[in-house]
Amino acid sequence: MNPVRVAIFASGTGSNAMALINKAKELPNSSLTIEFVLSDKLNAPVLEKAKNAGVRTYLIEKKQTREQHEAEILGVLREHHVDWVLLAGYMRLVSGSFLKQLSQWHDGHSQVVNIHPSLLPEYPGKDSIARAHTDKAEKTGVTIHLVDEGMDTGSILLQEALFLNPHHPLQTWAEEIHRLEHKMYTRFLQDLAFKKHPTNHFQETY
Ligand code: GRF
Repeated sequence: MNPVRVAIFASGTGSNAMALINKAKELPNSSLTIEFVLSDKLNAPVLEKAKNAGVRTYLIEKKQTREQHEAEILGVLREHHVDWVLLAGYMRLVSGSFLKQLSQWHDGHSQVVNIHPSLLPEYPGKDSIARAHTDKAEKTGVTIHLVDEGMDTGSILLQEALFLNPHHPLQTWAEEIHRLEHKMYTRFLQDLAFKKHPTNHFQETY
């Protein structure tokens, strides 16, 4: 059987990346593999954590142009025949040509996904949890969406709401939201492994 090959892109702490890595260890290798964790940040803690968990890592730092940076990343994705790219705190937008190349390898589907700590389209971009907390938002939550060129603008795949106490500190909000993120992202990974969510496998095009 051809496993679903996943790459994780992360720039920071990596709690989502580690939740995905730990979940993958429970799944049969024949169904899904985490090929590597890629970071664009030299000192991203996620790199050390993934290495310690036995996962291959790549550090591909910003280049002079976005095109050069993405060309190098595409090279690694191609080498590993990656089917899905899961962004987990990857602090960089991807270009249309990057997504187009991925679409060509996956029968017209770029298969890049992101997780975001708000109910999009509310609170896109940075510091979403803090902004929702400051606003005492009645309802918050987590979104898993396909990635397009914009900032958190791609089609929504999954969304779950949370009703948090406005009197609780930001720290509590962040913990609750991250817990939900880990639950949703690992469930998504499992759905990929068990084909509840269809995969267009990597296919080289000429
Ligand atoms: C998460 O809240 C994720 O939704 C957002 O960036 C954060 C990354 O956290 N895109 P971590 O590095 O996974 O702990």
